[in-house]
Amino acid sequence: MAVVMETLPGFRDFYPTECAVRNVLFTAWREVAHRFHFLEFDSPILEPLELFTEKSGEEIREQLFAFEDRGGRKVALRPETTPSLVRLIGTRAASLKKPIKWFNITENFRYERPQKGRLRSFYQFNVDIVGEGSFSAEAELIALAIESFSILGLGRQHFYIRLSDRQIWILWLQALGIEESRLQVGLLNVLDKWERREREDLEKDALRYLSPTASVQEFLIRAEQLRQSNTLQEIRGCFDALNPNNTLKAAVDQRLLTWGQLLEELDALQYGSFVRVDLGIVRGLAYYTGFVFEVFEADLNGRALAGGGRYDLLFEKLTGHALPAVGFAMGDVTLLDVLQKYHLLPKITFPLDCFVIFENSTRRQALQDVGNLRQNDLSVTYILGEGTVSKQFKKALEYNPNFILFYRSDELRNNQVQVKHVSTHSVTLIEREKLVNFVCNYTAGSKRE
Ligand code: HAM
Repeated sequence: MAVVMETLPGFRDFYPTECAVRNVLFTAWREVAHRFHFLEFDSPILEPLELFTEKSGEEIREQLFAFEDRGGRKVALRPETTPSLVRLIGTRAASLKKPIKWFNITENFRYERPQKGRLRSFYQFNVDIVGEGSFSAEAELIALAIESFSILGLGRQHFYIRLSDRQIWILWLQALGIEESRLQVGLLNVLDKWERREREDLEKDALRYLSPTASVQEFLIRAEQLRQSNTLQEIRGCFDALNPNNTLKAAVDQRLLTWGQLLEELDALQYGSFVRVDLGIVRGLAYYTGFVFEVFEADLNGRALAGGGRYDLLFEKLTGHALPAVGFAMGDVTLLDVLQKYHLLPKITFPLDCFVIFENSTRRQALQDVGNLRQNDLSVTYILGEGTVSKQFKKALEYNPNFILFYRSDELRNNQVQVKHVSTHSVTLIEREKLVNFVCNYTAGSKRE
């Protein structure tokens, strides 16, 4: 019996205060999306399994909550929203105005080992730009990501962005003579796990994709140099050391030019100081093709607060329509941890405008007014069931309302109601017809203060 009293591991119940905190995050995310003129969309929480097995990358495939429905279909709870977004846009690709700037807020499910910052059910704010191939889309998204943290009180002292590039890594693998895409993808996965694996395991992993004549030690030392590069000059130096042929050299020059433009754009938008060149980021999802980035808590190697990047090939693979795309998602779990750490969690109260108290004989008139007040957008409550006047007063004070309205039969004979303004203790007799106006004016006034 006790088992029904617990959630599944990695799942959370949200009591009203936690739900209210979650709603503050959702409202903030929507507000920022609105400022950047992104439109909200939604998609099913349950999707055909294939949507994720085909496109999400090895790690997510292993973490799927997948099962067969009663019709024998293989389905999965969404671990992320990007493949669903691709379907929605791909289906109407021709008619949608480009660039498409869309966002959504979703509950996602991944069968991970529950730990700090990682749960099996979590919320994500997903933001994507589709139909724009230039670096300005990356700049716009990084700006939006930064604002999504700023709006909640987090600043440069709390978080920063690690900006990297899968294209640079692919060019680097090519400079090492690794041309086969299967090997490149395998090695990118090895690089992605770098910070979480022991050196010995990294060697073993890398060996699976290197030619028998290559030195795994040398590969890892050179990779470490590129991972540690924090400037465009240092990146160039890593290539120079490999003596690339002219075609490759031109491709690297071109790419570093784009890097320079992106960094300049971010500076112009006044977000440059949040961003660090950091080739240590590769991203675990297989669909990324270009710039990738993750947001981290300042000077701490915790779990990422957000992550994303460019995925220019996913549309064509999934829908047949080639469309460039870039996006990111941030999660609620790590965000709440950081807000808590810096005492920035929103303060939650549940304000109540009126608590209504009545004698048995005045119940009917009191309830009529409850209806009127509620129809005028005021929050009103009263004791359900029966209770003496003194019990009702006691209850009222527990709620700390703005007003206590008291319906006494002798005053009601003159069509009057006692209105107590709780914080000032002032009591006024108000005619019932004027009640809604009186409370509304007072409430609007106090909201303006
Ligand atoms: P992701 O890096 O897998 O990217 O997830 C983005 C964020 O979601 C993470 O940085 C983290 O905050 C949160 N998150 C992920 N897994 C968990 C978990 N198990 N528990 C708690 N939080 C988690 C994506 O999902 C991509 N679809 C983002 C994207 C959008 N790329 C392009 N467009």
